[in-house]
Amino acid sequence: MNLYDILNKATAKPHALSQEELMFLLEIRDEKEMQQLFHAAYGLKLRYTGKMVSIRGLIEMGNVCAKDCFYCGIRKSNPNVERFQLDREAVLRMSRWAWKHNFGSIVMQSGEMESEEHTAFVESLLRDITNMCNGELGITLSLGEQPEETLRRWKNAGAHRYLLRIESSSEEIYRAIHPKNHSFARRVECLKILRKLDYQVGSGVMIGLPGQSAAQLAGDIEFFRKMDLDMIGMGPFLPHHDTPMGKNVDFSENFRRQQLELGLKMISAVRLQLHNTNIASTTALEALRNDGRELGLLAGANVIMPNITDPEYRKNYKLYENKPAVNESSDDSIRELTRKVAAIGEEINWNKRGDSPHYFARH
Ligand code: 5AD
Repeated sequence: MNLYDILNKATAKPHALSQEELMFLLEIRDEKEMQQLFHAAYGLKLRYTGKMVSIRGLIEMGNVCAKDCFYCGIRKSNPNVERFQLDREAVLRMSRWAWKHNFGSIVMQSGEMESEEHTAFVESLLRDITNMCNGELGITLSLGEQPEETLRRWKNAGAHRYLLRIESSSEEIYRAIHPKNHSFARRVECLKILRKLDYQVGSGVMIGLPGQSAAQLAGDIEFFRKMDLDMIGMGPFLPHHDTPMGKNVDFSENFRRQQLELGLKMISAVRLQLHNTNIASTTALEALRNDGRELGLLAGANVIMPNITDPEYRKNYKLYENKPAVNESSDDSIRELTRKVAAIGEEINWNKRGDSPHYFARH
């Protein structure tokens, strides 16, 4: 196996690589080879979306969560978080801000909750936002596993994309990082329902989990292909000190460099294998390095999701350590982001929903 052949094969057509070849890419250590990998994936990104970066404003609506994931800072049994839930006015204000600032699209994210009250709250918010913005603002939901009826109501009320990370497609890892009552099968089922309801469906995994092998990460990419996903959002695993998986972990410079590199290699490998899916350059990359998100774009990602939640709430939505931009106003973040994107020769696709080309290719 050699890198040159693998990259040629992958750029010629999608789904061209074997599991072994994907593993080869993920296991690259040599700096020059790594740059070649990023460069090839970036070339494909250019082929599908040009020098354009899609942008979504992320609204962290609340951190109350019914789940107890061993890695996550807002897990139910972490007593050290102040729980909050934005009210209608706050969500409308932030959505309006996004619309006025030429965002084509927002993501509404929160901890996982299943109740009629929550379902109805989100449903009416979706209608209000859609009315307020004359339907100009795309709306992605990231609200965890939900029953089919709930997802249908939200779709009818104006949501058109949904993000639900599988976290790891290896059932063995999934079981190791979640309590017993968290079901892998239900999560997969939920992704299938989203597809059936004709959402643009996004999923993804954490990269560099303890004990995770290159074979399992290659398996994640195969899972993305099999599920025919429209968007991929993945990021390196980062420890959070108030969680079972964040105790006694090494957060050394070396660990951070490894996590960043693996995260970037994974973005490239996904781009090379799937070609036209939307791939997010996630905040977790930025938590590892100041310019982590730009590096993600240059490794083949084409979407960024800056946080537009009011800073007063951000500190309570820490999923991992080192969360960036906790004290920054949304105006400052956007100015900074525009500058950073321009600095790598890319441009933000303002006022566009930035829907997944893969979704349209499928239809
Ligand atoms: N490190 C990295 N990502 C995390 N997430 C939650 N906790 C962590 C962590 N410690 C990710 C999960 C979740 C998304 C919202 O944040 O993948 O789906």
